[in-house]
Amino acid sequence: MQANHEKIILSVKNLSKTYANGFSALKNVNLEITEGEIVALLGPNGAGKTTLISIICGILNLSSGSVEVAGHDIVKDYKFTRSKIGIVPQELTVHEFETVWDTVKFGRGLYGKKPDNQYLEELLKSLSLWDKKDKKVMTLSGGMKRRVLITKALSHKPMILFLDEPTAGVDVELRKDMWEIVKKLRSNGVTIILTTHYIEEAEEIADRIGIMTNGELKLIEKKTTLMQKLGKKKLIIELKKPLKTIPAGLRKHNLEKSEDSMQLVYHYDTHKENKGVSAFFDDLKKLKIQYKDFSTKQSSLEEIFVQLIQEKA
Ligand SMILES: Nc1ncnc2c1ncn2[C@@H]1O[C@H](COP(=O)(O)OP(=O)(O)OP(=O)(O)O)[C@@H](O)[C@H]1O
Ligand SMILES: [Mg+2]
Repeated sequence: MQANHEKIILSVKNLSKTYANGFSALKNVNLEITEGEIVALLGPNGAGKTTLISIICGILNLSSGSVEVAGHDIVKDYKFTRSKIGIVPQELTVHEFETVWDTVKFGRGLYGKKPDNQYLEELLKSLSLWDKKDKKVMTLSGGMKRRVLITKALSHKPMILFLDEPTAGVDVELRKDMWEIVKKLRSNGVTIILTTHYIEEAEEIADRIGIMTNGELKLIEKKTTLMQKLGKKKLIIELKKPLKTIPAGLRKHNLEKSEDSMQLVYHYDTHKENKGVSAFFDDLKKLKIQYKDFSTKQSSLEEIFVQLIQEKA
C-alpha cells in the first residue's frame, strides 16, 4: 500500500561509501521511498545494508552522492533530518541497569524534546511493555529488549523508522509479533525500512523489496511483482538416454540440461496462461526423445533470490 499523496520521504542519489581502508561498501545506490511505505532490504552478509542505513541516520559519513530526508539534505540539515529518523541498530545496545521507562524517556531527551509522558505511555502500551515499565532492562528477554529499543527509537515521534535485522535470532512466535508491530506502526503513519535475511519476512510485511549484494542495490520492486516471480515452476524430465546438446527443435523453450545430460529442466510461470508445457511435450514426442519419468517443482524462494541477483548482475 502506498500513501495516497505519494510524498517522497527519503531520497538517496548516487550514494557511494568507501571505508578508510579503501573498501568500497556502497556503489552508486539510488533509492526513493514514499511516505507510509514498508521497504525491506534483503541481502547476504556484507552486502552493505547496515552501511546504507548508518549513512542515512548520520552515524557514518558518505563518500559521494547525497541523501535527503523529507526534502532536507542529511549533511547540511543534520539536526533536522536526524530528528525525523528513529533507528533500532543491528547490535542491541541497551543500558541493562536502567528501567524500561527511563530508557525510553532518555531516548526522547536525546533529541532535545520535552518529556511527554502521555505519548510514552501510549507507545509502551502499544508495544505491550506498559506492565514492564518499572523493570530493569536486564531482566527482560531478548525479544522484549528489542521492543524497548523500538519504543526508544520512536520516543521522539520520527517519520521514518529503520529496523536493522529486527528479527535476527528471534523465535517464530516473536517474529510474528514483530511483524504485527511493524504493521501497526505503519498504520500510524510511520515509514519503515528494515533489513532482513529472511525472504519470508520481506514477503510478509513489505510493500517493496530491495535486494542488495556487493554494495549495490540490484533491484527494488513491489512485492506483488516479486510474488509473480515466485509463481515459477520447473518441470524435470528424467531421460532414458543422455542428450549431449539441446536439439534445435527444443531451443524455443526455456530449458536447461543437467550436467550428466540425463535430465531436462523446463522453467515456466504458473501465473501466466500456459500452453508452453503441452507444446514442450509435443516437441519431445516429435523429436522422439524418450523419458523415464517427470516431476514438477516449485522454485524455492532461495532459488528465486539467487536468480534475481544473477539476472541483474
Ligand atoms: N569500518 C569498516 N571498515 C572497513 N570495512 C567495513 C567497515 N564496516 C563495514 N565494512 C565492510 O563493508 C561491507 C558492508 O558491511 P555492512 O555491515 O554494511 O553489511 P550488511 O549488509 O549490513 O551485512 P550483515 O547482513 O552481515 O549485517 C562488509 O564487507 C564489511 O566488512
Ligand atoms: Mg548489517
